[in-house]
Amino acid sequence: MDNLKIITGNSNPDLAEEIVSKLGKELTQTTVDQFSDGEVHVHVQETVRGASVFVVQSVAPPINKSLMELLLMIDALKRASAKQIAAVIPYYGYARQDRKQTGRVPISAKLVANLISTAGADRLLTVDLHAGQIQGFFDIPVDNLRGDPVLAESIENKISPEEGVVVSPDVGGAKRARKVSQKLNMPLAIVEKKRDSENGNVEVLNLIGEVDCKRCIIVDDIISTGGTLTEVADILKRRGCSRVEAICTHGIFADDALESIESSPIDSVTVTNTIKREKAIEADFINYTSVGKLFAETIKRIYKEKSVSTLFPHS
Ligand code: R5P
Repeated sequence: MDNLKIITGNSNPDLAEEIVSKLGKELTQTTVDQFSDGEVHVHVQETVRGASVFVVQSVAPPINKSLMELLLMIDALKRASAKQIAAVIPYYGYARQDRKQTGRVPISAKLVANLISTAGADRLLTVDLHAGQIQGFFDIPVDNLRGDPVLAESIENKISPEEGVVVSPDVGGAKRARKVSQKLNMPLAIVEKKRDSENGNVEVLNLIGEVDCKRCIIVDDIISTGGTLTEVADILKRRGCSRVEAICTHGIFADDALESIESSPIDSVTVTNTIKREKAIEADFINYTSVGKLFAETIKRIYKEKSVSTLFPHS
């Protein structure tokens, strides 16, 4: 894999280090910092001429800075004659604005897709895009990996199939939760929720499924304010469940999410490292599991032009 190079910015250096070490490589030295006026400054320190370069950078908080770093790294690579540039975006921010829900609002997910393509990316690699159809916003190949096998593995053998129930926190997430319930051989419950378009508050309307005296495992793609998780945990407790755990791919933990989760009936939360683990979120009810191996294996397959879908045999 001599012609494979990996560079990273400031959004997720630990994950990038893990990926390169699993590939038996080293990061291509790159400076990504700021000019004194705040403009992002990028300098790739080694030649990339003719190389296949994978740029590992989540579009995660500080989201606009992360995005700008990503775009400028891609631009630098294009101008340095890289043969192929893959944007590896473990957390694809701006994905929740994927359609016009009212008049005079942007479709930010589409604009961001345009920016990434215009900068010069030849392909995109990500995990659990908030909406799968965002793949269609790109005219380059998109590999949208699944985080649920990694998350399910983190709790496999810790909860027996007889005592657990997998819970989807909304109807849209039922497919993802069903995959986890099948892997863990547990029943599935589904919550119907509504989000207020003005203030973003979550309201739980209904719960379908039996959770009394069960250990509930909520499966979601994103934890942002924690509103979804805490509202769902409340109804599960009211319906008599014995314990609430959550497994989610992207842990943003915005605003006072940690405090809300801590004071809710949620006993533990497991997230992946698609978003940098901050010292501020070292809460003992939060566990991390890594998508490093998944990304390393996928990068290797892309580079060697091997199938990626066979990584998920039961899709
Ligand atoms: C919603 O469709 C998503 O799957 C998540 O449930 C949502 O983005 C979580 O956001 P929050 O933590 O702010 O409720």
